Amino acid sequence: MSSKVAVIGGGTGFIGQALCKSLERNGYKTVAVSRNPGKSTITWKYIEQEGLPKNTEIVINLAGEPVLNVFKRWSASFKKEVWESRISTTNTLKNAVLCSESPPKLWGSISGVGFYPPSSTLVYNEDSKPGSNDLWSDLTHAWENAGKIEHKNIRHVVVRSGVVLAKSGGALPQMLIPFKLGLGGPIGDGSQWFPWIHIDDIVGIFMHAIQNNSVNGVLNGVAPDAKTNQEFSKYLGSVLRRPAILPMPSFAVNMLYGPERGIMLLQGQNVYPKLTQASGYKFVYPTLENALREASS
Ligand SMILES: NC(=O)c1ccc[n+]([C@@H]2O[C@H](COP(=O)([O-])OP(=O)(O)OC[C@H]3O[C@@H](n4cnc5c(N)ncnc54)[C@H](OP(=O)(O)O)[C@@H]3O)[C@@H](O)[C@H]2O)c1
Repeated sequence: MSSKVAVIGGGTGFIGQALCKSLERNGYKTVAVSRNPGKSTITWKYIEQEGLPKNTEIVINLAGEPVLNVFKRWSASFKKEVWESRISTTNTLKNAVLCSESPPKLWGSISGVGFYPPSSTLVYNEDSKPGSNDLWSDLTHAWENAGKIEHKNIRHVVVRSGVVLAKSGGALPQMLIPFKLGLGGPIGDGSQWFPWIHIDDIVGIFMHAIQNNSVNGVLNGVAPDAKTNQEFSKYLGSVLRRPAILPMPSFAVNMLYGPERGIMLLQGQNVYPKLTQASGYKFVYPTLENALREASS
């Protein structure tokens, strides 16, 4: 018997592996698209040459060069890699989706809350506009545009994700180190918004989109419990029963990451999941305290 197949670009990564596990629990055979060939992976070249595997029902792209890699200097060539790893993989999968003889029922992709320009006062929902002349808005906007399709039988969903919190993988395990040593605290002055989501919910939103034929378009992948970076630090300190008073100064962030990347940590957006909730999605971890209790235990 042929099983239904889900093809996940970047399925080898942190979110991709969690999504693949959930898809498999729901009866899908998962195939990750990767730069490296392997047992349950196929390469981008394979997709370009052969198209989608038989019985593909779901195609989701999560591939992208990690941006906040402290070991990679913020240079013109790295910036190009950050950009192209998202746009070219999206183009490759979108073309395969459009050329497929039996089109998949869902084409999904991820993007980030960097779509919305940093602001301390505005509250953004999925209908809000991107910034202009802002590197991260420009990147996410181009990334989302690359994925756009108009096809009456294929739904397209884009999840604009905040920082994904989990026990292993993502940003939290690295943040826990100074906090557990009692050396944690806010980044910069801590007044910037810190949009966050638990890994179970980012996976949950994709599964919700897969399982509900009425879900379409952009969904914000953030919990409905907006916090500033200072509030986030306070909650993390209290969950760990450690002080959280030592700030990481802005100049140190800029020295480590370069000012263009430093913006991602030193400025933020207050993002609300209006359409995500209106589409019927119920958050597993709607509050930061519960999310941190699970992810830092
Ligand atoms: N984690 C978060 O908090 C978060 C928040 C907002 C948005 N996102 C976005 O969500 C996506 C997945 O995030 P993640 O945390 O799961 O990332 P991840 O663990 O770094 O995985 C990303 C995957 O992309 C592939 N990749 C990396 N560099 C690449 C390159 N230069 N060219 C082509 N493919 C490349 C890798 O697959 P191979 O090594 O197998 O090729 C990797 O498995 C990313 O696009 C990220 O920007 C993540």
